[in-house]
Amino acid sequence: MEFSKDTPYDQCLSPAFVLDLNRLQKNLNLIKEVQELASIDIIMALKAFANWHLFPIIKDYVSGATASSLNEAKLINEYMGVKAHAYFVAYHPKEFKEVLACSSHITFNSISQYNRFKTEIEEHPHPISVGLRVNPEYSVVETDLYNPASPASRLGMVAANIIEWPEGIEGLHFHTLCESSSYDLEKTLQAVEEKFGQFLPQIKWVNMGGGHLMTKNDYSVKHLIETITNFKEKHQVEVILEPGAAFVWQTGELVSEVLDIHQSGVVQTLILDVSFTAHMPDTLEMPYRPTVLGQVPIEKAAFRYRLGGLSCLSGDYLEEYGFNQEIQIGDRIVFADMIHYTTVKSNMFNGVAHPSLLQWDGSQFQLLRSYNYEDYKKRMG
Ligand SMILES: Cc1ncc(COP(=O)(O)O)c(C=O)c1O
Repeated sequence: MEFSKDTPYDQCLSPAFVLDLNRLQKNLNLIKEVQELASIDIIMALKAFANWHLFPIIKDYVSGATASSLNEAKLINEYMGVKAHAYFVAYHPKEFKEVLACSSHITFNSISQYNRFKTEIEEHPHPISVGLRVNPEYSVVETDLYNPASPASRLGMVAANIIEWPEGIEGLHFHTLCESSSYDLEKTLQAVEEKFGQFLPQIKWVNMGGGHLMTKNDYSVKHLIETITNFKEKHQVEVILEPGAAFVWQTGELVSEVLDIHQSGVVQTLILDVSFTAHMPDTLEMPYRPTVLGQVPIEKAAFRYRLGGLSCLSGDYLEEYGFNQEIQIGDRIVFADMIHYTTVKSNMFNGVAHPSLLQWDGSQFQLLRSYNYEDYKKRMG
């Protein structure tokens, strides 16, 4: 359901992301059911959604969560009360001890990273389950920006660069899907078997990444369960899925208000109190067109408007949307499905540590501001 008929969008603050708890609950029930029927672990990827106010609800429906930065790992510890499954594109030596303390699983993006931190893991007082991210060089994702298996991708190791499976690594991790179906997963598993089948007898768990959009209406949960069960039985491995978007798929909207109607020749642009580049960057990066409440097909529309963002970036707008009613200043424009990859992207995406602000006077640096976990946390909830 893209919009809730009962939400009085015109009565809430603007701009605001509005999450519908009933729709979230529906998604959580389904995810828990898949987890139980397939006997797998489903963990939540914080990169899609990190509003920790909701973690006390979510934690009862998942086996944990996955972190792609120390900030995310800390948030998982603090608000889900569990250790994180960590997968970072690269671990920083200055924070690796803290990552170890926060994590139960640590997945490396390369064997060189594993070799760099192997001794620290061995010396750590608590056992850590170690994984390696591989790149099966197959993905159904067509947009390169979103395709982790695009040519020469930096994400994971290709089979040609793994001569032998490193001792001490018991997990295999891949992530190549994005808003994908169970049939896409099935094809991906074939590629994983072709490229890495020889290593599977040494593997205890396979983390199949995210991109499993099981909460979408037409997703075949039955086929997902069959596919995973077959793989588990064939290779005698435990399976972990780490979706993000599926948790909050279609659970809420971004409410905005029309501040002005700008005329340029015949084109009218609704100037909104939100920004595509600052709040909905995927609309420009992918690009994709979000559904807007009350929109009608452009060819049948009585009124047409561009939707303009509040930033000064010239490209901060979406091409024409059609409506049957004339839009007035002060009206609300409500964007559908604006919970996953929005709040996280408009803040500190992936929890990646924010660069400090320094100034240089010709002889020394002066620190004006640095950002820490508390800053990340305050932006997320
Ligand atoms: C390694 C990894 N795991 C999980 C996810 C979550 O994917 P999604 O939100 O599409 O389910 C991502 C998304 O980029 C990812 O990079």
